[in-house]
This record gives sequence, C-alpha cells and structure tokens, in this order.
Amino acid sequence: MKILAIACSPSRGRNSDTMLDHFILGMKEVSGIEVEKIYLQDIRINDYTYENRQAPEDTEPEFKKLTDRMKNEFSGLVIATPTYNFSVPAHLKNFVDRIRFFALDFTKKNELGQPMGTLGHLKTYFLVSGGTPNWAEHILFFAFPSFWLRGVFLYFNAKVMGAFYSGDTKTFKNNKILNKCFKRGKKYAQKVARKKSHGILERIFWRPPQVR
Ligand SMILES: Cc1cc2nc3c(=O)[nH]c(=O)nc-3n(C[C@H](O)[C@H](O)[C@H](O)COP(=O)(O)O)c2cc1C
Repeated sequence: MKILAIACSPSRGRNSDTMLDHFILGMKEVSGIEVEKIYLQDIRINDYTYENRQAPEDTEPEFKKLTDRMKNEFSGLVIATPTYNFSVPAHLKNFVDRIRFFALDFTKKNELGQPMGTLGHLKTYFLVSGGTPNWAEHILFFAFPSFWLRGVFLYFNAKVMGAFYSGDTKTFKNNKILNKCFKRGKKYAQKVARKKSHGILERIFWRPPQVR
C-alpha cells in the first residue's frame, strides 16, 4: 500500500517537515506500507482559474502525474503544514483548490445540490505546526489548519484518520513531540494496512451530506 506524504512548509527541515519525517519513520515500521515524500513547492501548480477547472494545464505535467497517482495509486495521504494566519500556506490552499477537478464528481449531486466527493479510497492524516500553545489551540481549534483540512477532505469524501498539532516553535528539536509523531505514524499506517475506516467523531459529526 502506498502513502503519499506532502511537506507543505516553505521552510525545509523546520517544524512540520521534521514532524513529517518522524511520522514517516513510524509508518515504515509497518510491513506492506510504502511511503513517498514530496515537497509541494517542487511541483508547479498554476493558480486556480475557470479555464483550468477541469484538468491540469500543459505547463504543469508533474501536477498532472501527481493527480493521476492520487486517483489510482495511493491509499493514504499525509499533509504536513505550518499555520499561516489562521490558515495554510498559499500553495497548499491552491493545491486543495486545484484537485477539485477529480476530488469532486460534478455529474452527481446530493440532496443539497453539492457535487459528490470521490476520494473514498484515500485515508488522510494532518500534521500541523503553529506558534500558538497547544492548550490555546484546543480551545480555538476552528482557527487552525487541521479543522479546515478535516472539513475539506471529508467534503471530498476521503477518510480522515486524525490530526496532530504542535505549538512549539522549536518542534524540530523537541524529541518528545517528534517521538509522538513517530508513534502516530505507526498507528496510522497500521490502520491503513488493516483497511480501517475513520474515527467515531468523523463518522458522526463530520459526515458530509453526500454520505449521509
Ligand atoms: C506568515 C506567518 C503566519 C503565521 N500565522 C500563524 C497563525 O495564524 N497562528 C499560529 O499559531 N502560528 C502562526 N505562525 C507561526 C508558524 O505557524 C510556526 O512558526 C510554525 O511552527 C512554522 O512551521 P514550519 O517550521 O513547519 O514552517 C505564522 C508564521 C508565519 C511565518
């Protein structure tokens, strides 16, 4: 089973990137799991426009290859991102905007008239770094990327297996947190290998209308 791990911070080797590296080490403990890590900024992805709403453009062949593989090859998707102004870095937001051409099926609508999500085969996990302490993130969870990422990937009908936030701005050298990332990675990969579905919260509260 192949899992795609995307590092989305422009700062390589810093917090969310290092969280991802430890998560990957944990995943690799599980037999039958293959992981591929990429840096999102290495892939040219043009801004979303009406013209490119249905497919990648000729100028972005790597993006086309990646989306083909996300459709057919990967069973898991791990996104590691910093928090930027209560949201994610612009290139990650654009990536999520651009994948809607295959993440949503516009020929099928639910009772609210929304297109149906098509990512039912993808088990997702989100690693998020931020400058806000963990206790404050617990209270203001809706102002952080994991809340939004969970919501949008559930809208795409993906399985959301979990998220992990670190508010230490020196996470990249915090062994306690990195150890937790390792353990979370192993647990996540075990669930992917055992073909488990997402958790009770996602099943009850986060369920998008199209799978009700
Ligand atoms: C442009 C910018 C905006 C930021 N906005 C937030 C924010 O809204 N909330 C927050 O908790 N931290 C914010 N931060 C702090 C980063 O999320 C934090 O330093 C994080 O650990 C960086 O992760 P990285 O090393 O993976 O890039 C911001 C940092 C930058 C550079």
